[in-house]
Amino acid sequence: MHTSLQVIVTLLNLVPLIAAIPSFIGHTRSDNFTRLPPSVSTYQQELGPRLSKNATLYFPNSSGYINDTERWAANTKSNFSVVVVPGTAQDVGATVSFADTYNVPFLAVNKGHGGAAGLATVYNGIQIYVRALDDIEVSEDGNSASMGGGVYQDQLVNYLFDRGKAACS
Ligand SMILES: *[C@@H]1O[C@H](CO)[C@@H](O)[C@H](O)[C@H]1NC(C)=O
Ligand SMILES: *[C@@H]1O[C@H](CO)[C@@H](O)[C@H](O)[C@H]1NC(C)=O
Ligand SMILES: *[C@@H]1O[C@H](CO)[C@@H](O)[C@H](O)[C@H]1NC(C)=O
Ligand SMILES: *[C@@H]1O[C@H](CO)[C@@H](O)[C@H](O)[C@H]1NC(C)=O
Ligand SMILES: *[C@@H]1O[C@H](CO)[C@@H](O)[C@H](O)[C@H]1NC(C)=O
Repeated sequence: MHTSLQVIVTLLNLVPLIAAIPSFIGHTRSDNFTRLPPSVSTYQQELGPRLSKNATLYFPNSSGYINDTERWAANTKSNFSVVVVPGTAQDVGATVSFADTYNVPFLAVNKGHGGAAGLATVYNGIQIYVRALDDIEVSEDGNSASMGGGVYQDQLVNYLFDRGKAACS
């Protein structure tokens, strides 16, 4: 009797381990495991090295996290496990690829004005804070421009105006 209880206790102890395995081996959206979200150390050890030197990870309650998750409307606050501040556009790709492998939701955020109520349903997610990716480049023929995901309307309008150009908005 004592022995079989021991076995059950041992099995129960294994449950969290088994539940944690999918987050290490990667998985598809179609499987039905209840997944644990990646831990802080998983983000640091698995995502950190894939990012450029200028990228930063902020975790809950750090001042960087608090600053960068501020939103215009409080009811659009998501639950993020980490804020990734990409140093390059490639860092955004690496973060999305990580999110896909670990099956966690991600949201690219710039100025934080979006009002969609669904934003508050993001849970244990990754915020990709693109504000610093704000380069604008007008093409040689002057008829188009390419820009980073952190460019916002006023900035673009002023930049183009200074070069004798305008964009429809
Ligand atoms: C996941 O669960 C749904 C609903 O119970 C089921 O229809 C589906 O076949 C399951 N998918 C897999 C991959 O087990
Ligand atoms: C990293 O940031 C520093 C300081 O802002 C900047 O001088 C440098 O060009 C950046 N490097 C890259 C690869 O973006
Ligand atoms: C953040 O701070 C609050 C209030 O001090 C605390 O309740 C919460 O557990 C902290 N969260 C984390 C992830 O440290
Ligand atoms: C967050 O904002 C405060 C107030 O502006 C500033 O003092 C602090 O340095 C910021 N934190 C980071 C990590 O940028
Ligand atoms: C996310 O939600 C969980 C569960 O309610 C909570 O423990 C955690 O503190 C939340 N994280 C943040 C950053 O609010």
